[in-house]
Parts: sequence; structure tokens; C-alpha cells
Amino acid sequence: MADGENGGTGGISEVPNPSPAMAKASGKSLGQLQRGHEVYMLKCGECHEYQLPERVDIADWEDAMPKMIGHAGLPKSDERAVLDYVVAVKKQQGQEY
Ligand code: HEC
Repeated sequence: MADGENGGTGGISEVPNPSPAMAKASGKSLGQLQRGHEVYMLKCGECHEYQLPERVDIADWEDAMPKMIGHAGLPKSDERAVLDYVVAVKKQQGQEY
């Protein structure tokens, strides 16, 4: 794997920051989405390129998150937060599946 640089492919800069509108649309609290975003940015590009929310179906996110949280050595609460965040991003983008 290329060392460190995940910015090169252009995708990650498009991952949106949580906003009050996103929180409202997803039914999650802004704090929860902010935690998910923070964990995502800190951890989820460590071993592979960032898997952008829109590129992975919700069912596949639900499938992958327990494994990834294990890989990253994070608590269960962060699994929920990252999942809530990526689902909220997908909803904001109009992808409900
Ligand atoms: C310690 C290394 C490591 C970390 C940290 C990590 N991953 Fe992964 N990820 C992998 C490996 C290895 C695979 C492929 C094999 C597997 O499923 O375990 C993978 C696969 C995936 C897939 C599946 C892609 C697909 O096409 O189905 C997704 C989605 C994913 N990771 C998201 C994440 C997210 C979100 C995080 C942050 C919570 C994360 N990863 C953190 C190692 C990691």
C-alpha cells in the first residue's frame, strides 16, 4: 500500500461535514454524526483508501462495520457512530437503499 497519502484520488475531500440539516434528515443527533465523522476521518483510511459513503450500499456498510471497528480497535459505540454518519451522508445524497 502507498504510504500515508489518501488524498490523491480526490474522493475524500468530498466527504461532507455533519450539519444540523444532515442530523435532522437522518434522525440522529449532530453530536453522534460528528463523532462518526471524526472516527471515520481518523481511522478509516489507515489500511485502505477511504471507502466513500456513496460507494457502499447500506447493507454492505452494516456488514463491514463490525469487522472494521475490530480492525481499528475501537469500541462498539464508535461502530454505531460511523454507521450513523455514513447512512446520514447517503440520505443527504438521496440514496436510501
Ligand atoms: C487495521 C486495518 C483496517 C482499518 C483500520 C479499517 N479497515 Fe476497512 N478493511 C480492511 C481490510 C483488510 C478489508 C478487506 C477484508 C475484510 O473484509 O476484512 C477492509 C474492507 C473494508 C470494506 C469493505 C469493502 C467492500 O467492498 O465490501 C469497507 C466498507 C471498509 N473496509 C470500511 C472501513 C471503515 C469505515 C473503517 C473505519 C471504521 C475501516 N474500514 C477501517 C482493513 C481495515
